[in-house]
Amino acid sequence: MKKIIILLSVFSIGCKTQNVIVKPTGLVADKAMVVSAREEASKIGVEIMKKGGNAFDAMVGTELALAVAYPFAGNLGGGGFMVYRKANGEVGSLDYREKAPLAATKNMFLDEKGNVIKGKSTGTALAIGVPGTIAGVFEVHKKLGSLPIEEILKPVIALAERGVIVTKKQELRFNDYKVEILKKNGPNSLFSTVFKENDFIKYPALATTLKRISKNGRDEFYKGETAKILVKYLQEKGAIITLEDLAKYEAKWRTPLTFDYKDLKIISMSPPSSGGICLAEIFKMIEPYNLAKMGHNSSEAIQVIVEAERRAYADRSYFLGDPDFVKIPLKELMSNDYLKQRMSNFSFDKATLSSDIKQGKVNYNESMETTHYSIVDPFGNAVSATTTLNDGYGSKYYCDELGFFLNNEMDDFSAKPGEPNMFGLVGNEANSIAPQKRMLSSMTPTIVEKNGKLFMAVGSPGGSTIITSVLQTILNVYEYSLSMQQAVNAPRFHHQWLPDLITFEPNTFDTKTFETLKSKGYLINEKTTPVIGKVDAILALPNKTLEGGADFRGDDKAVGF
Ligand code: GLY
Repeated sequence: MKKIIILLSVFSIGCKTQNVIVKPTGLVADKAMVVSAREEASKIGVEIMKKGGNAFDAMVGTELALAVAYPFAGNLGGGGFMVYRKANGEVGSLDYREKAPLAATKNMFLDEKGNVIKGKSTGTALAIGVPGTIAGVFEVHKKLGSLPIEEILKPVIALAERGVIVTKKQELRFNDYKVEILKKNGPNSLFSTVFKENDFIKYPALATTLKRISKNGRDEFYKGETAKILVKYLQEKGAIITLEDLAKYEAKWRTPLTFDYKDLKIISMSPPSSGGICLAEIFKMIEPYNLAKMGHNSSEAIQVIVEAERRAYADRSYFLGDPDFVKIPLKELMSNDYLKQRMSNFSFDKATLSSDIKQGKVNYNESMETTHYSIVDPFGNAVSATTTLNDGYGSKYYCDELGFFLNNEMDDFSAKPGEPNMFGLVGNEANSIAPQKRMLSSMTPTIVEKNGKLFMAVGSPGGSTIITSVLQTILNVYEYSLSMQQAVNAPRFHHQWLPDLITFEPNTFDTKTFETLKSKGYLINEKTTPVIGKVDAILALPNKTLEGGADFRGDDKAVGF
C-alpha cells in the first residue's frame, strides 16, 4: 500500500486556489480514493479499485455496501443520481430516481375537501415510490464497468454476512426512529431490536437477496423472485406498487447540467433533480461579487449568497419537475441576462423579503436523510453519486425477507400546489403526482473541472440544504483557499426562499454577524438547528495526489491508496 498521510500533512505541494498554496489537512492518497458515509463502504470501493476495477465498478460496490453499512440512507429500496467525468474529459449522468407507481393519482394524498392528509405521503405504504437503485448500478456497470458483477458484489455480500458494527451516531439515530420502526414492522423485525454502540448487526436476508441479484442480474430485482417477494410484501402493507411497476422501471442517462463559474467548469445533475439548476443560478448570481475580499462567512458574503439562494429556490419551486413530463426553461433560467436582472433589486443596505420575491418571469419538496459518496480511480475517472430513501430509513417499512428498507419518496412530489412539505418547502404544478413520473429532488452530485482537468468531486445529503452545502464547499476551496477537509468542516448556513429564514449551524457563527444581518432586516432561525449537510468530497491536488474531505458531522470516512 502506498503512503497515506492523515491530518496536518507536511506535504509542501498543496492545492493552488486564488494563487494561495493550501496544505491538505484531510487524508491524502496517491492514486485513488472513496469518501462515503461509512468506512466499510469506502473500503469496499477502494478494494475493488486495487483489484484493477475502475471508479464505476467501485461505484456499484460502494452504493450497495452503503445499503448494508448505512441503512439509514444507503439502500436497495430507494434511488439516486450519479454524475461522472471520465479521465478523457467525457461527462455524463444517470438518473435512477424512484418513480410514481402506475396507480398513483394527482390527489392521492388529499382528503375530500382537497386538504393534504398529514403523514399520508411520508408514513404510509402509499409513500413508497418504485425503487431505482438496482437498475442504476447495473446500468452504470453495463455502460462503464470493467470487472464482472459477481466480483464486485462478493465483498458486499461478505460484509452483509459478517455484519457491521454500530457506531455511537448510529445508536442515536436508531433511538430517534425506533418507535416508528417498531410500529411499522412489529416486534419481530430485525430493526425492532434496540441496537447499541458496538453491537454487531448481521444481514443474512440482505446477503441472500444480493446473492440472487449477483447470479441473476438486474431483472432479479425487477422481474424475478425478489420482485415477487417485494410486491407481495408491499401489497400486504397497503402499497400500490405492482409487478408491472417494477418490470417497467428503467434508469435513465441524462445530459448533466454544465456551467462555468470564473475559471471553473461545474458539472452537476439536471432535472428531475433541482440540484444542478439551483447551483448554476446561485453561482451565476454571486459571480459578480468579490466574495474572497468580503471574507469567509462575513455578513456581506452571507448577504450575497442568501439573496442568490432566495431567488434560485423561488424559481425551483415554480418551474422544476420531471423533464419527461413538464417543460423546464433551463436555458432561460441559466441565462446571464435573466440572472443579472434577478439580482438587480439586491442592496447591501437591506434584506429583500421572500414575500417580495416570486418565481422569476419565467415549489418544492423533500428530505434531510440521504447519503453521498465521491470516488476517483487510478485511471483518473471520477464519480459523484447521491442516493436516498428520502427520510431516515425511508418509510420505515423494512422487508425482513429481503433485508432492506423502502423509501417514502412520494413525499418529494408536491401533494398540493403551495402546500409546504415536511421540510417547509412548497411545491407546484410542475411537480404534481402522475403515474410513472419522477419526483423532484435536491440531490446535487457534482464534479468540478479547473483548466480542463478534474478539480473536485463533491456532494451531500440534507434535503433542500444539499444545494447550499455543495455551493459553500466549492466556494470554501476556490474563493477562501481552504483545504478539502477544512472546506467540509467549515460552518454552513442556508436559506431556501420559504420560510424566509437564514439557518446557521449551531454554535458556529459570531453573534456580531447575526446582529449585523438582523439590523438589515434578515430573519434568523433562532431555534436549535441541526447540522447542515454532510459533505463527502475529493480534491485533485496540483501534484496529482488526492485530498479527501470526509464530514465529521457523521461517521464518514475517506479511504485511499
Ligand atoms: N429525498 C431527497 C431528495 O431527493 O432531494
